[in-house]
Amino acid sequence: MDPFGGTWTKIKLDILKRYLDAYTTALKNQHFDLLYIDAFAGSGSLELKMQGSDRTDWHSFRDGSAKIAMDIADKPFDELIFVEQDKGKCDRLQSLKGSRPNRNVIIENTDANAYLQNLQRNWQKWRGVLFLDPFGTQVEWDTLKKIAGCKALDIWILFPSSTVARMLPTSNIPDEINPKWADTLNRVYGDEGWRDLYQESPQCELFDEPRTVRQIGVGNLINIYKDRLQGLFKSRLLEQSATLRNSRRSPLYEFIFCVGSDSDRAIGTAKRIAKHLLNLSRMGTS
Ligand SMILES: C[S@@+](CC[C@H](N)C(=O)[O-])C[C@H]1O[C@@H](n2cnc3c(N)ncnc32)[C@H](O)[C@@H]1O
Repeated sequence: MDPFGGTWTKIKLDILKRYLDAYTTALKNQHFDLLYIDAFAGSGSLELKMQGSDRTDWHSFRDGSAKIAMDIADKPFDELIFVEQDKGKCDRLQSLKGSRPNRNVIIENTDANAYLQNLQRNWQKWRGVLFLDPFGTQVEWDTLKKIAGCKALDIWILFPSSTVARMLPTSNIPDEINPKWADTLNRVYGDEGWRDLYQESPQCELFDEPRTVRQIGVGNLINIYKDRLQGLFKSRLLEQSATLRNSRRSPLYEFIFCVGSDSDRAIGTAKRIAKHLLNLSRMGTS
C-alpha cells in the first residue's frame, strides 16, 4: 500500500459510506435491483498519511471505497462493479471478493472511461450509485454525458481542482498553456469552456489594447465545471459541494453530487440526504 491522502480522504469516504447506507435503505422496498460502480476502485484498503498538529506524520489504515460498499449490510447491493486499471490492485480486490462469497462482485481491470462509456443495462430494472474517485483529471466529460443519459445512477465525483489549477498558465495568455494540458482540459470540461477563466479586464479602457486577465482562483474553475454539470444534469445537480483540503488548508478536490433518476421525488430525497451529509462533514462530525 502506498501512503496517500489524509483527513480529506477520510471525509470523502465517510460521506460515501453514509450515503450508501441511506441509499440502500431508502430503496429497500422498491422493485429495483441495486448496483454500485466504483470506477477508480483502488485495492479495497488504504494507508493514509496524516499530519498531527505538531506537524509530525503518522499513518492510519482504513477501508477503501470498494470494501466499504461490499460491507453495506442492511440491504446489500445486488451487484458491485470495481473498475481499476492497476493489475496489482485488481489482484487485491480479487482477494477481498474471495473473503465475501455472499457478494456479487465483478472486477474489471480496464480503463474507467472506456468501461463506463460502453456500459449497457436495462435501466428500467436497475438503480445505483457511481463513485468517481480519480487521482487527477481522468474523468472525461463524455463519460458523465453517458451516465447522465442513463437516468439511473447517482454520482459522487471528485473534481481535481488543484491539479486543474496547476495546468493553467499563470500568465494572462490562455494560449500559453501546454497543448497536451489543453487537450486534457478539453476532455475534462467537454470543450474549451475552461477558457472562460480568462476574461477581458474591466479596466481595459485604460489601455490601448484589450487585456485578457485570468480570474485566478480555484473557485472559478469549480464554478465553470459546476455550471456545465448543471447544463447536463439540470435540477439533478446538487449545488452545494464539499471542498476537500490538504493539511495546509489548500483546496485539493471538490466533492460533487448528481442524482441519477429524473423523477421529482427521487431528486428531492437524494439531494436532501446528500446535502445533510455535506453539512455534517462541514461541521467536522462526519
Ligand atoms: C484515488 S484512487 C481510488 C481510491 C479508492 N476510491 C479507495 O477508496 O480506496 C484512484 C485509483 O484509480 C486508478 N486509476 C487511475 N486511472 C484509471 C483509469 N483510467 N481507469 C481505472 N482506474 C484508474 C488508480 O490506479 C487508483 O487506484
